Amino acid sequence: MTPEPLKVYLDSYGCQMNLYDGEIVSSLLQADGFVITSRAAEAQVILINTCGVRDHAEQRVLGRLRTLAALKRRHSRLIIGVLGCMAERLRESLQDQIPEVDLVLGPDAYRQLPHLLKGLISGDEGIRGYSTGALRETYGDVQPSRREGINAFVAIMRGCDNFCSYCIVPYVRGRERSRPPEEIYREINEAVAAGFPEVMLLGQNVNSYRHEEVGFPELLDGVAQITGLKRLRFLTSHPKDLSDALIERMAQGGVICPSLHLPAQSGSDRILTAMKRGYTSEKYLTKVEQLRSAVPDLALTTDLLCGFPAETEEDFRQTLELIEAAQFDDAFTFKYSVRPGTEAAKLPDDVPEAVKVERMERMIASCRQQANASRKRMIGQQAEVLLEKVSPKNSSEWSGRTACGRMALVPGEFNRGDFVRIRVKQVKGFSMWGRKVNYE
Ligand code: SAH
Ligand code: SF4
Ligand code: F3S
Repeated sequence: MTPEPLKVYLDSYGCQMNLYDGEIVSSLLQADGFVITSRAAEAQVILINTCGVRDHAEQRVLGRLRTLAALKRRHSRLIIGVLGCMAERLRESLQDQIPEVDLVLGPDAYRQLPHLLKGLISGDEGIRGYSTGALRETYGDVQPSRREGINAFVAIMRGCDNFCSYCIVPYVRGRERSRPPEEIYREINEAVAAGFPEVMLLGQNVNSYRHEEVGFPELLDGVAQITGLKRLRFLTSHPKDLSDALIERMAQGGVICPSLHLPAQSGSDRILTAMKRGYTSEKYLTKVEQLRSAVPDLALTTDLLCGFPAETEEDFRQTLELIEAAQFDDAFTFKYSVRPGTEAAKLPDDVPEAVKVERMERMIASCRQQANASRKRMIGQQAEVLLEKVSPKNSSEWSGRTACGRMALVPGEFNRGDFVRIRVKQVKGFSMWGRKVNYE
């Protein structure tokens, strides 16, 4: 009699790259006979794929792990694995904190996972603990087991060499390495054949992608030729490496969407230097101007970080000025969180929590107002929306995104993956409502 396949429940936190890694892990496990279940209660193995970018993210995972540890004390055969960036940051010390954790695997160690799980299941206790992987890992031959949706993530590179002074990513994901273009084209072809009209290329700094003669703009040229691909996005662009050649590709349009995520972090040159970002606020705004004149309908989004060590009210005011000048379409706002081992961790974390909170609220208010204004300018205009799902708030509407990446709601009956042209009627906060109009 063949044994029942083992059921694995996997939950991923963090950025798109980490979600993509979750799809790699699912694929590796399925190839080895494991079954991925969406119901934790029926799983023999629970894997938590973690983010370590801020303390808050780690505390949430620790809370979750403590709950799982209590469950394991009642059902001793449950296997608990911690994957991802926080696993790589804490390594063995994670098991010191929560001894019920069986496996701790960093982002480059996932090929070992099926073997380690089988060993544990057969009672080999020696396997428990931290595992690391090959530092050049790109999982090049693994076709990710994608979640349902219209947008397929494709990593074009892994790791980061920038060492921004606040950031843990280069320590937990290793040095930057780019995948060969042929491998990327093959993966995108497979995603398009599987029904994904939109692809999001992923890297911590896609603008420094390079494989032999192929840089990021050339890679985009290659991807844009893939038959059946309707929309192409990419994440994240570092302002210091945003080239004229890339701006030119964006201006050409075609499948390349008029949306760009360009993290500014701060508007104060003193703070940007301390962060080791490699640009000034003036340089950032010059790039924005260049982008806007090349791509007039561009939706620009950003990351903003307040409360970095020694940030004064004057520094912060300069961040608000940058927000005002750049006119963001959306922004992810964060309070500085000390990451032990980074360069900034040597500096005193001297901005009081209450001040960080208050500054973050001011950034949010300013960005929200801009985001709302950019959508209000769309009222009366037409836009093409790629529909994703029935709106969770109103089952008579479908929700999707415009090429700019703005959320749009459309009343009617549709299918996932439909492209509809709408005329925008109404705007509330970050959402737009529109009625379907016929294509001319
Ligand atoms: N490579 C990307 C993503 C990095 S992490 C980039 O360069 O933009 C995503 C965001 O988290 C960063 O842009 C930054 O705003 C924020 N972040 C990183 N480290 C942080 C820290 N120590 N405290 C608070 N926010 C942080
Ligand atoms: Fe972190 Fe900077 Fe690398 Fe982004 S570019 S992952 S912020 S070190
Ligand atoms: Fe992403 Fe968090 Fe790791 S932002 S790269 S999952 S530390």
